[in-house]
Amino acid sequence: MTTLQFPADFHWGAATSSFQIEGAAELRGDSIWDVFCRQPGAIADGSDGTVAVDHFHRFRDDVALLAGLGLDTYRFSVSWPRVMNPDGSVNEAGLDFYDELVDALCEAGIRPWLTLYHWDLPAWLAGGWTNRATAEAFVDYALVVHARLSDRVRIWTTLNEPWCASFLSYAGGQHAPGHRVAAEAYAAGHHLLLAHGWVTWALRAADPDATLGLSLNFTPGYPADPDNPADVDVVRRTDGTQHRFFTEPVFHGEYPADLIADAGADWPGGLVRDGDLAAIATPIDVLGVNYYTSQLIRAGAAAPGVGVHTTAPDAVVVDRPDLARTDMGWEITPDAFRDLLVRLHHEYTGPAGISMAITENGCAVDDPDPAAGPIDDVERIAYLAGHLRAVHEAIEAGAAIDTYLVWSIIDNFEWAFGYTKRFGLVAVDSELNRLPKASAGWYSDLSRLGTLCLPEQA
Ligand code: FCB
Repeated sequence: MTTLQFPADFHWGAATSSFQIEGAAELRGDSIWDVFCRQPGAIADGSDGTVAVDHFHRFRDDVALLAGLGLDTYRFSVSWPRVMNPDGSVNEAGLDFYDELVDALCEAGIRPWLTLYHWDLPAWLAGGWTNRATAEAFVDYALVVHARLSDRVRIWTTLNEPWCASFLSYAGGQHAPGHRVAAEAYAAGHHLLLAHGWVTWALRAADPDATLGLSLNFTPGYPADPDNPADVDVVRRTDGTQHRFFTEPVFHGEYPADLIADAGADWPGGLVRDGDLAAIATPIDVLGVNYYTSQLIRAGAAAPGVGVHTTAPDAVVVDRPDLARTDMGWEITPDAFRDLLVRLHHEYTGPAGISMAITENGCAVDDPDPAAGPIDDVERIAYLAGHLRAVHEAIEAGAAIDTYLVWSIIDNFEWAFGYTKRFGLVAVDSELNRLPKASAGWYSDLSRLGTLCLPEQA
């Protein structure tokens, strides 16, 4: 047994998002995910977010759950169409919900970490993220939420995983709005970044002491044959659209030249106006890192659409049969997580003098039905332990990381997979009762002591 000690001031917590847990859809406007869920075949089990796990009505129980586990941070998102009405007015009742949630968290001694956008865009915003006006509307919405909650919420994430909200949604067709047009993905990506930059600027002006950032998802790619230039090149292009499209303008104020060249006619040059890149590069205080897996890639025959974790149309993901997989089919690669964190520290956050937070990490396990008795999710514990070891190694290598938030505290609506994939530390039965799994107790002990115990080969 090896034991690793995390710093005494390290933050331990969990993450969720509005559409995936809240339900109470009748009390808010439609988001693009409500519309997408109505498309036949879009969601694996034909489900939607109408009720989800009814967090809207059970939030006090859920906060008590978090507090009972001893977690000190809870990352949640605000549903834009719950807070704003189609005519641009504020839905005060919707805002009241978050007000009460934040109060409950503060009373329980839990640090609220608020994400302004986790994909549930109001359906009434014409053109969605392909329209620059959506970025303008995001500023209005963000300032409304900030005005109500900033006395208690001190950490603000503008966007969750803009790659998913652009490339996977507008080119990949797998997320709302389900389009398959490459040029739309680039336009959406630019407007998402602009929305992030404008809101960072506006919140900084209103609230200089707030901690501001965004959460990006990283899926490091490795060439199947490092001596084959075609494989190396397809990895470069995948890294370009998936990672550097976002990190380079945010940290260095420009889009990479190779990416612009690769995009060709799809590049939204006409949409990038004077001042946009300066706005996007408004300094942030923390980079949120979401990590689940890595992949081996080779150049091959053009695949239809966009793979879950790739963007280059000729990227073929190569199976690594020696690696264990989660229930998503994602290979379990904690060493790639450590290497990613060290790379991000050297290339971006270190030079900017800011920290990183792991804003999502976790795994889907095909857990048994909770009605059959307590769930002993040893695979989830092993996954989390291996990835926390990677975080510890990255810290030892010099990376400034002060927070780890597991995805997720509770089983929930896993987007296009509906309720078929379970990421929670806590199960939900058919009556929506909350039933902690073995991983919840394990994580609670870990967060209280900060001591990670690993079997020799974990
Ligand atoms: C991330 C999302 C999150 C959840 C996990 C499994 O990409 O941000 O909402 O679905 O994947």
